[in-house]
Amino acid sequence: MKSDLISGLFFLVLLSYSPAFKQLEDVYEYLWESNMHIANKTLHIDFLKQMQSGELQAERYVAFTLQDINYLLKITSMLKELQEKVQTPEDVSAFMKGRYISYKKFAGFLLSRNFLKGASQIKPTPTMKKYLADYREVMQTERDPLYFAVALLPCSRLWLWLANKLDIPSSNAYYTWKKENMEGHPEKHYKAMLNKYLNTSEKVQKASNIFKMQMQNEHDFFGSS
Ligand SMILES: *[C@@H]1O[C@H](CO)[C@@H](O)[C@H](O)[C@H]1NC(C)=O
Ligand SMILES: *[C@@H]1O[C@H](CO)[C@@H](O)[C@H](O)[C@H]1NC(C)=O
Repeated sequence: MKSDLISGLFFLVLLSYSPAFKQLEDVYEYLWESNMHIANKTLHIDFLKQMQSGELQAERYVAFTLQDINYLLKITSMLKELQEKVQTPEDVSAFMKGRYISYKKFAGFLLSRNFLKGASQIKPTPTMKKYLADYREVMQTERDPLYFAVALLPCSRLWLWLANKLDIPSSNAYYTWKKENMEGHPEKHYKAMLNKYLNTSEKVQKASNIFKMQMQNEHDFFGSS
């Protein structure tokens, strides 16, 4: 009892005096802010620079789109599994169902726009293979499904940020990409949930590692496109 009290006090003292305190106040922002350097690096990748200038060769954009469609369908099927499996807690369960419906809808929209029936003929690039394998690993090895939400967040935040940062006028061939990605509200789905459950420094550390890995995977996807 006494040692619990002491270690509890010690934890509070640690929280108030270590830099971790602010992080724990808003883990959602902390994860993003501590990986801004990867976002910055991604913005300067030649694929995105050439989209901005309108010089990107169409073949590269087509290949990128096909990889993205395959990605969306694979993530949708992981979310399908999770939304069936995760029944509690209620907010995490609702998150999985909500994300599943949203990913399914968007993947379906991209398939029909491109007159595709599915992604079975799309071969993932080595970079995409690694990215998807990292998702699967998080899904299969982490007992807490919350870490899958953490793994999903870099894509949502980064694409939104990139679309807003890139100066692409409506006369540019890649304007549709900007327009379709520049309006989103990831905080509506993730923020309260992550801040509620990532409430120990161990959990924040684990989330931080997963978030960083996925930011790097996003960077590498653009880098290899
Ligand atoms: C990202 O880039 C902006 C402007 O280019 C700069 O102000 C900011 O410090 C950079 N952040 C990091 C973490 O590199
Ligand atoms: C962390 O959050 C969970 C879920 O809300 C709660 O059960 C647990 O007591 C909290 N732990 C700490 C250290 O605040």
